Amino acid sequence: MSVSGVVLVAGEGTRLRPLTYTLPKPLIPIMGRPLVTRIIEELMGNGINNIHVVVGHLGFLFKQVLGDGSGLGVNIRYVEQRERLGIAHAIHRAVEDGAVGELVVHLGDNYFGEGLGRFIREFREGDYDVYVVLTRHRDPTRFGNAVIKDGRIVKLIEKPREPPPNSFVMTGIYMFRDSHDVERAFSTLKPSARGEYEITDLIQWFIDNGRRVGYSITNSWWKDMGTPQDILDLLYLMLDEVKPRIEGEVRGEVNGRVVVERGAVIEGRVHGPAYIGKGSMVGKDTVIEHYVDIESNVSINGGSLSRSLVLSDASLELGRARLVDSIIGPKSRVRLSGGNYSLILGEGNSIISIA
Ligand code: G1P
Repeated sequence: MSVSGVVLVAGEGTRLRPLTYTLPKPLIPIMGRPLVTRIIEELMGNGINNIHVVVGHLGFLFKQVLGDGSGLGVNIRYVEQRERLGIAHAIHRAVEDGAVGELVVHLGDNYFGEGLGRFIREFREGDYDVYVVLTRHRDPTRFGNAVIKDGRIVKLIEKPREPPPNSFVMTGIYMFRDSHDVERAFSTLKPSARGEYEITDLIQWFIDNGRRVGYSITNSWWKDMGTPQDILDLLYLMLDEVKPRIEGEVRGEVNGRVVVERGAVIEGRVHGPAYIGKGSMVGKDTVIEHYVDIESNVSINGGSLSRSLVLSDASLELGRARLVDSIIGPKSRVRLSGGNYSLILGEGNSIISIA
């Protein structure tokens, strides 16, 4: 039986503007690697080598970054989803384009602390037609909800106004035993009120037709990167697991679990957990407090940073200022003299204090 990985990255990421005007969220790097790369590596680690990437918004950038997949050891095919017609439609597009057999579908903005291995194993061992992964979330109204009765999913509801009782939130991984069933289910769907072919409706077809729909509740963290805070939360979770490694040059001080990549220079102080990317420079008066990710070729002078992500080629002159809970877009320029700031900047933005 052939197995196809399907990774959906077509979304516009509207809640992450201005960052996503030029950088789709699955391409936002965390500790040197974009989320989509990590997802594809995870699929590959579970023996899935044929991967359909469904692109839309800024699709050409995925082709530039991932190419044909040979750099990662997989085979990537790109499928266009021109209109925003939802997740079920994106999966249908992948099948139209040749994804066959068992499908392991992963949203490009989702990430699982425990990896995918257990889910894929349980899906196959349980001989299910469909398998989903559920979790608890403090705001279920942002997600698909699965109502459980007697250990079975009986109903799926997309973004309910009121979370139903006995329900869990649906994460963004969906497995199907047979792509032909997906097409049969899809052919019965109608767009929802928001104009999309919903994944909840697609899987509801399997429930209503007496198919075997399995589920698991993740026993680790799960993150969906909808908002800037979600990206920062994912960064903190990943930094919590970081193994220290120093390949750059430390002239100042490094405390705790810190990665300093090749070509990076630390003249100031860095408190872990933290990641300092290739060719970046932390000036002698700068304090990196903790939970900070500095990507490549960034220069920082003065100031302090805490719980923040600074993307490549940014330049920060901070004086006595402190940045907290910030995301600084690539090639942005920040020049401050003092004060506390939380900034969310896109690519090539400029913030200059003239006081
Ligand atoms: C989508 C799905 C939703 C799921 C969520 C997980 O929502 O429609 O069922 O819970 O992904 O990330 P979106 O936020 O893409 O509208």
